[in-house]
Amino acid sequence: MNALVINGPNLNLLGIREPGIYGHESYAELERICRAAGAETGFDAVEVFQSNHEGAIVDAIQEALGRFDGIVINPAAYTHTSVAILDALKAVNLPAVEVHISDVDAREDFRRISYAGKACFARVTGEGLAGYRHALELLAARLR
Ligand code: DQA
Repeated sequence: MNALVINGPNLNLLGIREPGIYGHESYAELERICRAAGAETGFDAVEVFQSNHEGAIVDAIQEALGRFDGIVINPAAYTHTSVAILDALKAVNLPAVEVHISDVDAREDFRRISYAGKACFARVTGEGLAGYRHALELLAARLR
């Protein structure tokens, strides 16, 4: 059982970027949390991918087919804009969980819209980096 964790734009700047919203922990720490949580929730491997480019995220979703059993995705700002990421998730039809570090529903109105979320069976928001662990737990339960 393998999972792909996908992170969208600006998440590589975790720890630097708006720490009042996204916390003080770095992207490297997020990678570590995902790998540890994956091992503890029964995944053989968890690959963690980040890109600032919409097309690269679409490529990563397409290439997940046949390599991964499920996806955890934080599309970051593309959550609220990208039909291409939604369509890629629908195309590969892998079980997917949407995750956001912040509570997107409690912020600006434009953050309440989620395109990618329409192709995800679950959503985790506002739990900080621990939300990735929660998302991997939900994915593992779904795959068992
Ligand atoms: C985010 C929320 C998005 O609205 C924002 O554009 C991000 C990060 C989060 O994890 O809280 O970049 O997805």
